[in-house]
Amino acid sequence: MSSTVKNATVLFLGRAVVRAQALLGDPAARLLGLSPTSDPYPVYESVRRQGVLVPTRMGLYLTASHELSSRLLRDPGFGPLSAGALSPVDTSALPGGRRLINPVEESFLVLNPPDHTRLRRLVAPWFTPRGLRAQADTVERVVEQYLDEVADRRVFDLVGDFAAKVPIRVIADLLGVPGADHATFARWGSALVNALDGVRDLRGMRALQTALREFESFVDDLIARRRRHPGGDDIVSVLAAHEDLSRADLIATTELLLVAGFETTVNLIGNSVLEVLGHPAVRERLLADPGYADAVVEETLRHDPPVQYTVRVPFEATEVAGTRMPKGTPIMLMLGAANRDPAVFADPHRFDPDRADVREHLAFSSGIHYCLGAGLARMEGAAALRGLFRRFPDLKAAGRVHRRPSRVIRGPVRLPVATEVKKHHPIVETLS
Ligand code: HEM
Repeated sequence: MSSTVKNATVLFLGRAVVRAQALLGDPAARLLGLSPTSDPYPVYESVRRQGVLVPTRMGLYLTASHELSSRLLRDPGFGPLSAGALSPVDTSALPGGRRLINPVEESFLVLNPPDHTRLRRLVAPWFTPRGLRAQADTVERVVEQYLDEVADRRVFDLVGDFAAKVPIRVIADLLGVPGADHATFARWGSALVNALDGVRDLRGMRALQTALREFESFVDDLIARRRRHPGGDDIVSVLAAHEDLSRADLIATTELLLVAGFETTVNLIGNSVLEVLGHPAVRERLLADPGYADAVVEETLRHDPPVQYTVRVPFEATEVAGTRMPKGTPIMLMLGAANRDPAVFADPHRFDPDRADVREHLAFSSGIHYCLGAGLARMEGAAALRGLFRRFPDLKAAGRVHRRPSRVIRGPVRLPVATEVKKHHPIVETLS
């Protein structure tokens, strides 16, 4: 059987199994099933009702518990599972035997100590409070620049025309990527992010392979240029100067920062704008006090986080919440569900930027893999929200919201907004 036919068969069978399990009411199948749901929160509640640790017929456990998620994230006996392990298709096998590096599956995001520690330490200085202060002006400038571009338009796409551009520009500056073309980056990012749910069909697999190939050759080129002209203080220059860093580590780290730097933050901006549009009292507060943007962003991270789940596996056979499990058993930690755990957050489904314990959320994970870019994401989210509503205090939804077709990453992919509207347009959602 040719590898294409084999992949197509595996994909078809995989889909059929997931669909059948979903019909039988399997909670994991409902989550991983093929038609992405625009509102996962009722599914999370059904998992929560079934217990702290819920077995599934797919060999995976689920938890909606904040306490258990937080504990496993910090437990040195557990580590991440590469996203590809959930995918039925080997996306790394390419004609000619060449392997492509997938930043989500091969970077320090999924490595364990000591490799994780070694690589994370190399890039950490840019994300310390001091590193962030140095970027504050860039972030404000980038926000204003893209607001200028839409200033004369009565209707624009909040995501494509603004939210996606800001984080791409910011991370590209940090990495020293000259003339970053946001449309190309956005295409690479989408292909990677869509693959996080598991590659679903041959078209998705080809899109992923093409994106990885283009992305890798772009990053390869960038590193080669930095090696030819050393001495810069951007991240890629500094990494490229480390002679002992393997080519694979160098590429995976650079790509991780690029992808993690924008594919999540664009959704934070989109989700927080949706929250403000849907809560008039919050808009009033924000208009009266632009500093309120920090609280709105934090509550958005809790209430509707861009990263909805992650996975941990035990390194050895162990017992979790009273259940014995062999080593390597995947447990899906549903961060979006943990953030609405009533054991931690009062009235958890209510959007309330004034809640005192908002920072308990797990939107940025916890433990050694705690998001390296959390401070930068918060800064970008708040600057975008402040700038946007300062410039367009009457901003309104002006058409259907299209959601990303992904369960891992949640956010609008298209959000038409009007800067001055005669008639109120309700927020209507659709899948992209
Ligand atoms: C709202 C925006 C963001 C969200 C919701 C987010 C979320 C996350 C989460 C949940 C993880 C951990 C996954 C796990 O434990 O399995 C993570 C890790 C990471 N994030 Fe973010 N992130 C955001 C923005 C950023 C930005 C702007 C950057 C960098 C420029 C970044 C860089 C990273 C890196 C490098 C890791 C890996 C950390 C490690 O494994 O030690 N993230 N992020």
